[in-house]
Amino acid sequence: MNPQITSTQTGASEAASPTYPVGSDKVQVRNIGVLTSGGDAPGMNAAIRAVVRSALNYGLNVYGIYRGYHGLWRGDIQPLNGRSVSERLQRGGTFLMTARSETFKTPEGVAKGIAMAKVFNLDALVIIGGDGSIRGARDLALMGMPVVCIPGTIDNDVACTDYTIGYDTAMNTAMEAIDKLRDTASSHERCSVIEVMGREAGYIALNVGISCGAEVVLIPEQPHDFNRDVIKRLLECRNRGKTHYIVVTAEGAGSAVDIAYRIEEKTGISARATILGHLQRGGSPSARDRQMASIMGVRAVEILRSGQLNRIVAYKNGDVTDVDLLEGLKMTKTISMDAIRDSLIIAL
Ligand code: F6P
Repeated sequence: MNPQITSTQTGASEAASPTYPVGSDKVQVRNIGVLTSGGDAPGMNAAIRAVVRSALNYGLNVYGIYRGYHGLWRGDIQPLNGRSVSERLQRGGTFLMTARSETFKTPEGVAKGIAMAKVFNLDALVIIGGDGSIRGARDLALMGMPVVCIPGTIDNDVACTDYTIGYDTAMNTAMEAIDKLRDTASSHERCSVIEVMGREAGYIALNVGISCGAEVVLIPEQPHDFNRDVIKRLLECRNRGKTHYIVVTAEGAGSAVDIAYRIEEKTGISARATILGHLQRGGSPSARDRQMASIMGVRAVEILRSGQLNRIVAYKNGDVTDVDLLEGLKMTKTISMDAIRDSLIIAL
């Protein structure tokens, strides 16, 4: 392991924008550490399994780093073998466990993590997580620890990839729950307000809203006017003969409890709130998540074997590919407002 990046930046500053030195950015990887970080997502186990089995197949050694970045600086590190990942493919959560480490957000925390990686002779790390975890990986890379990231979060909000592991399962979990809520809303002629996960991202809310025929979808990316976008819209639906209603809100767009209260107060329509919460993060991964996780895990090892460093595995235009870590973090992703408009038209 040797420093790979010219910048002297050690923190998480976006302004640093360092570049990797051309020609010296290759390293002979023998020992790989793998960790999961941030919110867990169904399919993370499948990704770990793919990394482990694929690396072993090429004669590399794999170490599991338990409890994310927190476990890295604590040295919570154990060798993994082919049997360590048996029976993991179909399980939700992450057997390596995960955490949101505050210590790791400081340059000292990152340096401690790298020092511990050296103790275990780790040449490179595979980091499975969402945007925050990938930024943590960037901080490691900037201090000389080679990394490859696999996007894993139910939020699907990693800009450089069209797909993140866990998204499909979470969508299906939310969809099944909302179908059930529609049954009871229909029987009681009520409005069911469902809060799905997504503090900063509305992908689950929007796409599950479309999948369930929600009359109203609220997402953090699109500010709403409560009277126009919720009250007026529900009354339009009622005047067209609808007798029950589904309102889906992302957690970052408004609280279901508050929204249900205001709907009932302003319209007289009986409303009930349900917060799906962490239910959406658990459960056996869908076929799509298992498949994507497996392909992305194998790709991460291929990247390291080819001597490349500091990449993010990505799914773009129907293919699994990879992008430079710093370039990937500069990218932005926008939710299609057409999709929102269309979903509302067909729900009326
Ligand atoms: O991992 C993403 C996510 O599930 C978000 O949708 C949600 O806002 C957040 O994590 C919840 O985090 P925690 O589990 O730490 O409460």
